[in-house]
Amino acid sequence: MEIQEGERDAAKLLQALGHIWNHIFSFMNSMTLKCVVELGIPDIIHNFGKPMPLSQLIRSLPIHSSKAGNIHRLMRIMIHSDFFSQHNVSENELEVEYTLTNASMLLLKDHPFSMTPLLHFELDPILTNPWHHLSTWFKNETPTSFETAHGMLFWDYVDRDPKLHRSFNEGMASDSQLITSVFIEKCKDMFNGLESLVDVGGGTGTMTKAIAESFPQLKCTVLDLPHVVSGLQGSENLNYVGGDMFKEIPPTDAILLKLWILHDWSDDECLKILKKCKEAIKSKGKEGKVIIIDMVMEEKKEDHKLVETQLFFDMLMMVVLTGKERNKKEWVKLITSAGFNDYKITQVLGLRSIIEIYP
Ligand SMILES: C[S@@+](CC[C@H](N)C(=O)[O-])C[C@H]1O[C@@H](n2cnc3c(N)ncnc32)[C@H](O)[C@@H]1O
Repeated sequence: MEIQEGERDAAKLLQALGHIWNHIFSFMNSMTLKCVVELGIPDIIHNFGKPMPLSQLIRSLPIHSSKAGNIHRLMRIMIHSDFFSQHNVSENELEVEYTLTNASMLLLKDHPFSMTPLLHFELDPILTNPWHHLSTWFKNETPTSFETAHGMLFWDYVDRDPKLHRSFNEGMASDSQLITSVFIEKCKDMFNGLESLVDVGGGTGTMTKAIAESFPQLKCTVLDLPHVVSGLQGSENLNYVGGDMFKEIPPTDAILLKLWILHDWSDDECLKILKKCKEAIKSKGKEGKVIIIDMVMEEKKEDHKLVETQLFFDMLMMVVLTGKERNKKEWVKLITSAGFNDYKITQVLGLRSIIEIYP
């Protein structure tokens, strides 16, 4: 192939080369993060109680002595990604000290909003393997790359593999904790006048347990697949129901479809779920509603990282499930096609929005 005049610009070519390298090696961000968490580094630094010297960190780690000289390299890339800060930088590398950042605080095992269960789930080889089959999936008829890789749908795999089932539930519950606390603080008024609430696909009920405690007058139900809710204990105003949201949702004033319910499913599947929701809502004017917590894709490119994270989620839904992330126009189309008349979108949950829809 002949290289054209304009393509010979060395600076541009070198920049393009750097861009490609960066993309080829981007998986290292995830894998080094996984390693740091598996070695327990955030907890070790946190438990030290003050900036931790590298020499001390090495002594505290469960590693082979032959690997001690590599810890500063692992820390260096994590500092570059803002997971740790370094202090006391001097000639003697072993004297450099590390502290946590806001991001690594959320990786502490016992932090109430710890994200480590989600990290363990999402970076399990069962979840990362389908990415190697993505181009094959584009050429075959299977609904997801997950099925191309594993020969069965994601939900069937979770149903059959108790370890993945536990990891999935723990991952989802950990993701719920932080959002739950912000949601209850900022959205109290959303529950005014409601007597009953059904959390559809509510998993093990992390958010609904907190809602039931904060609003004792509200009769709460968590609906999820029978194997997810079997054996779970409710309370005075919380009960668990095993069922299928595509078949029947118990009658209620309001429905919660939160954290990753509708984004798991195609438009046709979402329409079926939303129509079942509409049937279940006793008509109480503006009080009867469905509260969706999901992403509304940003169209603006100003915040590169935010847009990229939303695009990552969209790809994840394509590879593992039949779902997708939706922009505002797509949400409105879905809501109106399901027969709802009005909606309100509130952005108080970072990357995710609250979408209230009214029959
Ligand atoms: C992404 S998880 C979200 C879990 C939960 N909302 C949370 O915040 O932790 C999706 C949930 O939908 C449930 N699910 C999948 N298919 C379902 C169905 N047909 N009927 C009811 N729940 C279902 C799954 O078991 C899972 O708990």
